[in-house]
Amino acid sequence: MFLELPGRVAIVTGAARGIGFAIAERLSRAGAQVMVADIAEDGAAAAAERLREGGGKAAGVAADVTSPTEVGAMVERTLDAFGAVDILVNNAGITGRDAPLWETTDEDWEKVLDLNLTGVFYCCRAVVSHMRERRSGAIVNVASISGKEGNPNMIPYSVSKAGVICLTKALAKEVITDAVRVNAVAPGVIETPLLDQLQPEAIDYMKSKVPMGRMGSPEEVAAVVHFLASDAASFVTGQCYDVSGGRATY
Ligand SMILES: NC(=O)c1ccc[n+]([C@@H]2O[C@H](COP(=O)([O-])OP(=O)(O)OC[C@H]3O[C@@H](n4cnc5c(N)ncnc54)[C@H](O)[C@@H]3O)[C@@H](O)[C@H]2O)c1
Repeated sequence: MFLELPGRVAIVTGAARGIGFAIAERLSRAGAQVMVADIAEDGAAAAAERLREGGGKAAGVAADVTSPTEVGAMVERTLDAFGAVDILVNNAGITGRDAPLWETTDEDWEKVLDLNLTGVFYCCRAVVSHMRERRSGAIVNVASISGKEGNPNMIPYSVSKAGVICLTKALAKEVITDAVRVNAVAPGVIETPLLDQLQPEAIDYMKSKVPMGRMGSPEEVAAVVHFLASDAASFVTGQCYDVSGGRATY
């Protein structure tokens, strides 16, 4: 069977809803045991319950990825529940407030960078030694097309996602001989509750940039993450795959 993940253990951050939940559901359907990690404790528990109702093995954990302590506990909890970590999907993220640079506060900047970039650093660091020792692992980071193109009025967000793309490439090189692969996806505008954080003009701008003329679905992102997490991508590392309806062609 293609893209099967029997017995693999996956942590998906920010998986209570949106793209993260679609990824968790897809990996679960492929046979992975999934730790649903989210700052929203009830949401994580409910999402894990949905996966179990669908026949999967899953558990939920409350974890704020901006806290190295909570990230460490998330990994420990996963090891206790499932015995290993084979796949890490760093998906948790926020857009922050959309505003031009001159109206962007220190707090706006720090909040987005702390979660979208430093959180990815904490999570990668918490699992990578375990993966290197086992000589097995796949990390998939959810970046954004804004990290390649730079969306106006979303500078903290765009910069954080550019950082995620660069972290992906650099870490992939560090572990390239350890049988650990690190890749990213760069979604364009995807229909999820994340968009509620933005003014309608910001959403219109992003939609106007999509040659396919529509928003993507969380499931369309999950399909690419699933491929990158699977052995089908065994010769793929340090890459950033667009899921953007053709917005970027590089
Ligand atoms: N929706 C889009 O158009 C789009 C486009 C490109 C990239 N992305 C990226 O995809 C990822 C998922 O986005 P989404 O649209 O599903 O968003 P969403 O807002 O629907 O879901 C985000 C999830 O992350 C969780 N979360 C928030 N802060 C957290 C924290 N500190 N620790 C752990 N979990 C936390 C939330 O509780 C929520 O369940 C994000 O990284 C986002 O930047 C989204």
